[in-house]
Amino acid sequence: MILDCDPGHDDAVALVVASRFADLVGVTTVAGNAPLTHTTRNARIVLDLVGSDVPLHSGAQRPLVAPPRHAQNVHGENGLAGAMLPEPSRPADSQDAVGFLIDMCRSTEGLWLVPIGPLTNIALALRAAPDIADRIAGISLMGGGTFGNRTPAAEFNIWADPEAAAIVFAYGGKLVMSGLDVCHQLQATPERVDSMRRIPGTLGPLYADLFAYFLPTIEKFMPDLRGAPMFDVCAVLSVTHPALFEGSDEHVVVETAGEHTAGMTLIDIRPRLGRPDPNCRVQWKIDHEASFALIVEALTAFS
Ligand code: RIB
Ligand code: CA
Repeated sequence: MILDCDPGHDDAVALVVASRFADLVGVTTVAGNAPLTHTTRNARIVLDLVGSDVPLHSGAQRPLVAPPRHAQNVHGENGLAGAMLPEPSRPADSQDAVGFLIDMCRSTEGLWLVPIGPLTNIALALRAAPDIADRIAGISLMGGGTFGNRTPAAEFNIWADPEAAAIVFAYGGKLVMSGLDVCHQLQATPERVDSMRRIPGTLGPLYADLFAYFLPTIEKFMPDLRGAPMFDVCAVLSVTHPALFEGSDEHVVVETAGEHTAGMTLIDIRPRLGRPDPNCRVQWKIDHEASFALIVEALTAFS
């Protein structure tokens, strides 16, 4: 798989989980939680922390059409606040994430694209090389849902670049959507953050520091939750551990023009008759206990 990310605290966990359980053949970065310089630096740091030398290529600095908008109020000014992070060992391998994505899709059999930030890079790759739609195994994304977090209707990754999301949801190949409905079930509760801190070595405690910062910030915006959702991990586990999920095949489109609903994923859950053919597997439930155990296993493996 290639992880397209905007680290971001939950992206940082997804990178560790993908490094442990997937054949991770590349990482690309996109502006999202923070500007591209920060998300790229953070991705490089996390890859250093897990001792990974997979290629890292930075991508889009801004959405296709929408203005650049970030979530530094949640993830901090640098996008990964809360812990003393080492300096990255080296810069990204290039600034051409789109070219890297296209080359890898054309040369690698069974490749999954796992975007866990705004979908700008993936949309650009699909537009520049439509042939890759038939070559990849699928796209497993974190985004959307039956409700929003940045607006009542729109989840951040889709809201940040609705036009890109519309392209991805219409690409025609295998698509798995881990939206807020399933991601909110995988929470880093205070007890789970404590269990991360007890992991021997350095990585567990460092991630506990990151989530000790992230958790109260998230709780401020989502007082109904007991912990910080590890949103992006769901998109990775949907590929590496599909049996952990319950989902259904639905028809999903992205609203791009709504005054109040731009960035909404409209999931057509009407009775089958008269409904368009499904284009997306929507994940509804996750075995969050087993999933968190995998997160601890991954952090332990690299600690
Ligand atoms: O809405 C959650 C998504 O926005 C996650 O990918 C998180 O990292 C942020 O990018
Ligand atoms: Ca993300």
